[in-house]
Amino acid sequence: MSRSVITIERHIIEAERQFPEATGAFSNILYDIALAGKMISREVRRAGLVDILGYTGGTNVHGETVKKLDEYAHEVIFKALDHCGHLCAMASEEAEDILHIPEQFPTGNYVLLYDPLDGSSNIDVNVSVGTIFSVHRKISAAERGGMEDVLQPGTRQVAAGYVVYGSSTMLVYTTGNGVHGFTLEPSIGEFLLSHPNIEIPSPGQRIYSVNEGNYSRWSKGQQRMVDYMKGMDTENPEPFSARYVGSMVADFHRTLLYGGMFMYPADARNPEGKLRLLYEAAPMAMIAEQAGGMASDGERPIMSIQPRDLHERTPLYIGSRDCVEMAERFLAEDQKGAKPGSGSAAIAAVV
Ligand code: AHG
Ligand code: MN
Ligand code: MN
Repeated sequence: MSRSVITIERHIIEAERQFPEATGAFSNILYDIALAGKMISREVRRAGLVDILGYTGGTNVHGETVKKLDEYAHEVIFKALDHCGHLCAMASEEAEDILHIPEQFPTGNYVLLYDPLDGSSNIDVNVSVGTIFSVHRKISAAERGGMEDVLQPGTRQVAAGYVVYGSSTMLVYTTGNGVHGFTLEPSIGEFLLSHPNIEIPSPGQRIYSVNEGNYSRWSKGQQRMVDYMKGMDTENPEPFSARYVGSMVADFHRTLLYGGMFMYPADARNPEGKLRLLYEAAPMAMIAEQAGGMASDGERPIMSIQPRDLHERTPLYIGSRDCVEMAERFLAEDQKGAKPGSGSAAIAAVV
């Protein structure tokens, strides 16, 4: 007998029933994000067919070239949520400042932060991309929200998730009660529960995921850890496998299901790393922790970091608990100025 089909809508409603005081506002935000995800998915699937590829010629706030799909995704999400009356403000990778809800629309008690299209350099080559989102409760008194509302640590997130536009489109989210994955059934346009209660395997598959082209710019501890995982250390002759898509959503999704670790370390050119704390690292950290994994900047939990700037960056180590703990041990040696090669067995310990 086939299992009963659970749409994302039903899943959200059933979760909400556990909170009799819930107003439904929060559920509506999640539906609207799912709707935006479906619209972006449709465009991504047609990216090779319609005249949407190529550069717009503009650059985003980070000086990176913006492609049309980035702008499309940015606008679709904003417009899917600007009039619902549940948000007081939004923030996006593609906009320098906080985005206030337009005057003609009512406001609400939540804020949404998002990376509309993650891994956008992969669009032209038909490789997976994604959308990342993070929801906080409003804390300021300002009706249309202020910086205080968007600059909250990850521990204060009330929901986080992503949509991966891969071989199929999947939406994965958490509201602090486990991690649940839904696969888009394109013929009916519904996200159906396909991966209930996801848990990161720990120890998981021995996979590390990093842009190793940056090796020469890494700290000694970072280099030693990757050497260790490559089996170049006498303490670990058995190499891990390497996988790196270059879209964090895709690399993280694999890490969530198979285990291992995705990292984007600090390096000599990017001393704070590359990924953005508020709409890349923190939402993925909430998912990782909810799935029994871990996310760290190398020293402390990503979720504990108090943001100071909307677009601030952070180094990121995320995945199976044993791997992230190992990363923290290797990186701690940088602080102590340890000699290369000292004690990798003790540092790696459980892996
Ligand atoms: P975005 O497309 O939103 O700017 O993010 C790209 C990010 C992330 O998805 C990925 O992990 C990383 O950049 C890849 O960077 P490198 O090309 O430096 O490896
Ligand atoms: Mn991104
Ligand atoms: Mn992006």
